[in-house]
Amino acid sequence: MRNLNESNLTEVVVAGLAGTADPRLRAVLENLIGHLHAFVRETELTLPEWFAGIQFLTATGQKCDDKRQEYILLSDTLGISMLVDAINHRRPGATESTVLGPFYVPGSTDMPLWGDIAEGVAGVPAYVSGRVLDLRDRPIAGATLDVWQTDGDGLYGVQRYAGERPSYARGKFKSGVDGSYGFRTVRPVSYQIPTDGPVGVLLRATGRHPNRPAHVHTMVSAPGYQPVTTHLFVAGDPFLDSDAVFAVKESLIVSFEDHPAGKTPAGTTSNVPFCTAHYDFKLVEQ
Ligand code: BEZ
Ligand code: FE
Repeated sequence: MRNLNESNLTEVVVAGLAGTADPRLRAVLENLIGHLHAFVRETELTLPEWFAGIQFLTATGQKCDDKRQEYILLSDTLGISMLVDAINHRRPGATESTVLGPFYVPGSTDMPLWGDIAEGVAGVPAYVSGRVLDLRDRPIAGATLDVWQTDGDGLYGVQRYAGERPSYARGKFKSGVDGSYGFRTVRPVSYQIPTDGPVGVLLRATGRHPNRPAHVHTMVSAPGYQPVTTHLFVAGDPFLDSDAVFAVKESLIVSFEDHPAGKTPAGTTSNVPFCTAHYDFKLVEQ
């Protein structure tokens, strides 16, 4: 344990993990230490660079509280969240998953078919519908669809009301006996992820924009099936190919078709133009 240098230090630090009782923890730490040491070696990190990194991580932690998770935002903007998601959801044929994001709040209001999650929310009325199916296209009745999105200003309910309004741009629906679901909302808009913390500093330093393409978040679950956390992205959005958190998948891009005022898919009459979107969720058995 003496005279450690750049060629033998990694080996000695890794050997120090020999007493780790949990084998998975030991494997993860060995790999992490190996990659961190290799990173330092390959980049020939200077002391000021090392300290800038320490300061950045410190500021990231200091920005976190019970409503703000800057580390998750960092993971999202470095593509790590999507990589973890991809590795953990290899489900050919099922609806693809994507990032949860920091604005999900459990406890949304239960709503009936065609319930409106956009009461009091500015924007173009949108009617989203489809079915929840298994991989053989059989309907899944009684599936839960937890839905949330931003308002017309690009803000989530939790950003405006700290979770006190469980039905502001969010709601929970059940699929019917034929697997069908439907809800009313407003057409999602593209918006910016928070940039007032270290993640914003990093985006600016690397010349990246903070925009996310317009989307509706959905978390779909049913007994006996693996739940999926995903988005429905609005076709034609200018940020589909440069999402700040790398979360877009072709299969999740949905056309929001425009219609003049008149009869809506909910059987009501809209006095203003509206749009409709259709998407069938596919769940894989557990
Ligand atoms: C979101 O879609 O709500 C989101 C995802 C990742 C980072 C920030 C926001
Ligand atoms: Fe979002």
